[in-house]
Amino acid sequence: MDTYKGRFYSYALCDNFFCIPKVKPLRIKYGVYESPFPFPPLFDYWSLLMPVNSISQENTILVVDDTPTNLQVLFDLLSEQGYRVAIAKNGETALQRLQSSQPNLILLDVMMPGIDGFETCHRLKANPATHDIPVIFMTALSDSVDKVKGLSLGAVDYITKPIQHEEVLARIRVHLQLRNAIRMMEQRTNEVNQALESLMQAQLHLVQGEKMSALGQLVAGIAHEINNPVNFIHGNLIYVKEYTQHLLEFVQLYQKHYPNPVDEIRKRAEDLDLEFLQGDLVKILGSMAMGSDRIRNIVLSLRNFSRLDESELKPVDIHVGIDSTLVILQHRLKAKRDFPTIQVIKDYEQLPEVKCYPSQLNQVFMNILSNAIDALEESAIASPSITIRTSAIETNWVKVSIADNGVGIPEPIRCKLFDPFFTTKPVGKGTGLGLSISYQIVTEKHRGKIEFHSTVGQGTEFVIQIPMQGLKTVT
Ligand SMILES: Nc1ncnc2c1ncn2[C@@H]1O[C@H](COP(=O)(O)OP(=O)(O)OP(=O)(O)O)[C@@H](O)[C@H]1O
Ligand SMILES: [Mg+2]
Repeated sequence: MDTYKGRFYSYALCDNFFCIPKVKPLRIKYGVYESPFPFPPLFDYWSLLMPVNSISQENTILVVDDTPTNLQVLFDLLSEQGYRVAIAKNGETALQRLQSSQPNLILLDVMMPGIDGFETCHRLKANPATHDIPVIFMTALSDSVDKVKGLSLGAVDYITKPIQHEEVLARIRVHLQLRNAIRMMEQRTNEVNQALESLMQAQLHLVQGEKMSALGQLVAGIAHEINNPVNFIHGNLIYVKEYTQHLLEFVQLYQKHYPNPVDEIRKRAEDLDLEFLQGDLVKILGSMAMGSDRIRNIVLSLRNFSRLDESELKPVDIHVGIDSTLVILQHRLKAKRDFPTIQVIKDYEQLPEVKCYPSQLNQVFMNILSNAIDALEESAIASPSITIRTSAIETNWVKVSIADNGVGIPEPIRCKLFDPFFTTKPVGKGTGLGLSISYQIVTEKHRGKIEFHSTVGQGTEFVIQIPMQGLKTVT
């Protein structure tokens, strides 16, 4: 605060724009500078004015001019109309201060010492933070400046000095309205984009739900259909084995007591190769029992995988989930005409049961293992392998790592991997939803973490971490 002739004058030094305070200690008339007190030279005085961002930024106009008279005239005119007015004495100051505070419109003098209005405008438009602030050039009628140059630099209008008050106000009003309309449009566009984003998320949830329940139901349905007939076979095989044994004993008894049967029986025994048949029948029955056991295990895995009856949080052995997923993928792991068997290396640590949504977690294993198989097939490597490691970390987290020695993931696409619908696979092969669904299941449903490490040409490792407790709040 300074006092002069019994009056108070307030000013503040700051980095932002400056407003001439309402109490005007300074009067400038037609270029004559009258100071009511021994004040520093005019330009220094400007740096002692109130910061604009201490008041509302609504309709703030920045006037950039090196001529005090022009500044004063515009300041008076615009403040009378209710605008907040900020001033800068030259282009450099204006640009510097625009870094921290932005007006709604800039009145920019063309001819100024230092960088001129054109250069100032050029720099303003090159800066993303200021490029959309409308700029109106001010030029004296006598100046032969290139108006086209100004407009091509991004200015929205020109006004000529001496200022025609009504014209200036009208132009300012139009451009402020235009800017506000553009702002509103941008805001609406943002809202529409956000709505679109939520729509995509909703669609993702829907697809996820459908994909999961479709796969789960299919698997559960097949498991159920196979379960019944395989049980007939498995259950009856025990009797078939027993009866066959009895019959064979019976035949052997006959052979013992009637070593020389009639010609017809002897001939028939030769035709049938009775000796071989007796030995082979037992072996056939043994392999049939083994086959039916395998089918029963597969059915059990299918049921384990779908776990449709267990949509609630449940403590489970996640190794069972991984193994049943591997059973479902067995056909893809086997050798094909042009690709060797994919070796699965399991390195399981003993783990406590993990409270989780079992069918959803199996879905995650399915997605990651399928991707690993795709990456191995793409690499055409001689000894393809998938290594699955499990371990307990920090006492209450479990970690599952699934690593392949396939093609690897190129750097530029790594950031997009969890994006919905991102795929590098041909149309019809990949939907690009596997990892985004897995991400949601792990992070949202289980409050866990999922990440990956990859080296192009060497392979990829996905690491899932699931907390063993603390899922109760998840819906
Ligand atoms: N183990 C991996 N090795 C190499 N690239 C991978 C691996 N896992 C994922 N990717 C890349 O990430 C992309 C996205 O995977 P994501 O599972 O989300 O979709 P997708 O497999 O293409 O289709 P789908 O919806 O059928 O799973 C894949 O297209 C692939 O480019
Ligand atoms: Mg996939």
